[in-house]
Amino acid sequence: MVDGKTKILGVIGDPIEHTFSPAMQNAGLEALNLNYIYLPFHVKSDNLNSAIEGAKTLGIRGLNVTIPHKREVITCLDEVDPIANMIGAVNTIKFDYDENEGISTKGYNTDAYGCLRAIEEKASVKDKKITIVGAGGASRAIAFQMASSDIGELSILNRNFNKAESLANDIKSNLKQLNDNFNLNINAYDMDSLKREIQESEILIDTTPIGMYPNINDKPIASADMMHDDLIVNDIVYTPMETSLIKEAKKANAEVVYGYKMLLYQGIRSFEIWLGEEAPVKEMENALLKVFR
Ligand code: ATR
Repeated sequence: MVDGKTKILGVIGDPIEHTFSPAMQNAGLEALNLNYIYLPFHVKSDNLNSAIEGAKTLGIRGLNVTIPHKREVITCLDEVDPIANMIGAVNTIKFDYDENEGISTKGYNTDAYGCLRAIEEKASVKDKKITIVGAGGASRAIAFQMASSDIGELSILNRNFNKAESLANDIKSNLKQLNDNFNLNINAYDMDSLKREIQESEILIDTTPIGMYPNINDKPIASADMMHDDLIVNDIVYTPMETSLIKEAKKANAEVVYGYKMLLYQGIRSFEIWLGEEAPVKEMENALLKVFR
């Protein structure tokens, strides 16, 4: 029950009415009996800075940040986690209130961590070769996160080769900071190389919007005959849950990681950053699946 001691968390974005986060986060807060509430806030770009300042004066403890504010919000924060800084996008803000030192804000990117943890539900990424298709914002976040983990090799493939190359170069120039494993190979390829890359990989991540509702019958980036049964296939599209790529992966007896898992684990990580304790994964997953279906 909300009372005078209830603390506030929330999500800011434009639009915001379709967000799944309140259902998931409030289920987690309730399961642990924490006197917090998580609310959606519709914030337009022109008001972003005043929304962050307003959150401070209202004593808000944490915010998720969604489209279109993930990049711009960095300029409103006191501190940004190093990987979020390299990615250039923040989706989680923690507000700290200290009687002596005042209010401080720190930004994190838990989207990419969400993808990593979703895959690690199936198998460790250690020393694995990972192929990522797409070179947009989601690909960038995931590629930086993977490069900072102890993987063996990373290939980025994109329809527009120059974009894949520029992302690969960007990661390479940050590699020293990201990873002690200086032998990590980061390659950029065009889509014609996809078949060969998949054959050599243990993990395939599709960050393109292909197959997303309403275009559910779009031809997937890869068909079953291009895959193998030691492959883990993650499509970050989560509507529908069974995308055309996931269906192909199942035909090939590959392991599948549904797109909603990234959404789940980014929320789990945000929860842990704000509350400083382990999040109740099952309860949050059930709540997410309920609003989803
Ligand atoms: P997001 O920020 O969600 O990652 P984005 O920045 O628009 O979205 O990136 C989408 C990615 O999917 C891009 O890399 C895009 O390829 P291009 O750089 O060549 O445009 C890729 N993409 C989108 N539709 C595609 C399609 N039909 N076939 C192949 N790649 C596609």
